[in-house]
Amino acid sequence: MSQEKPKLIVALDVRTFEEARNLIEILSPSVDIFKVGSQLFTSCGPVAIRYIQAKEREVFLDLKYHDIPNTVANAVESATYLQPSGNPDLNNTNKSILMYTLHTTGGKEMLEKAAQTAQKIAQKLNIRKPLGLGITVLTSEVNRDNIQNLVVQRALLAKEAGLDGVVASVHEAPLIRKELGEDFVIVTPGIRPKDADVGDQKRVATPSLAVESGSNYLVVGRPIVKAEDPLASAQEILKEIQNA
Ligand code: C5P
Repeated sequence: MSQEKPKLIVALDVRTFEEARNLIEILSPSVDIFKVGSQLFTSCGPVAIRYIQAKEREVFLDLKYHDIPNTVANAVESATYLQPSGNPDLNNTNKSILMYTLHTTGGKEMLEKAAQTAQKIAQKLNIRKPLGLGITVLTSEVNRDNIQNLVVQRALLAKEAGLDGVVASVHEAPLIRKELGEDFVIVTPGIRPKDADVGDQKRVATPSLAVESGSNYLVVGRPIVKAEDPLASAQEILKEIQNA
């Protein structure tokens, strides 16, 4: 899996549906996957998700679940039901969201229940199972000793619990790839083209470095969303991914 070029995910970190819709319209000729996080989901719920799905683009639902196992499993059940038709009984696309996130710090039981629930519901609906991704250490955190070991420990926990992959920084991706194998999905945020504003991200890397790290998906928010020309910015990053 890590031999393939990684895919670009654009983080729709905006407040209103109108802003999100505008970005989806502008970017969907070049971008296949959009991330809906807590800001957009809090203001407009599944509306943005259905819009992305109606455009036949993929959804990364990044709500970083962390609660008691039963509550998280129920949230994952709802997430798996998020299909284009809005009604699983009428579903004819064979698809749910592409991926969702949950905190590995929630513990093994929480992670296991979530993974089992996604599997069970996908089977029941006869649809593709959404990928469950464990958050390891947030990229904005720096004051941690031995981040590499901690990230690998949490990635191992995610795998043991039946999750499909993790979210981690580009700096930890090579070690995760080595320890967890080729089929383990690695999603890396904190991507900044050379000369871009870093913002609050700490462990940042360029798209080229992210490609070399063995990451499968690169998450980019502000460098595209806040750009004067978001499509040009996305295309520039896509070119860098292809040429890396
Ligand atoms: O704007 P920027 O490119 O920094 O956006 C990064 C996105 O990736 C944000 O939506 C953030 O929530 C997300 N993310 C992150 N670190 C993680 C997981 C997700 O920055 N560990």
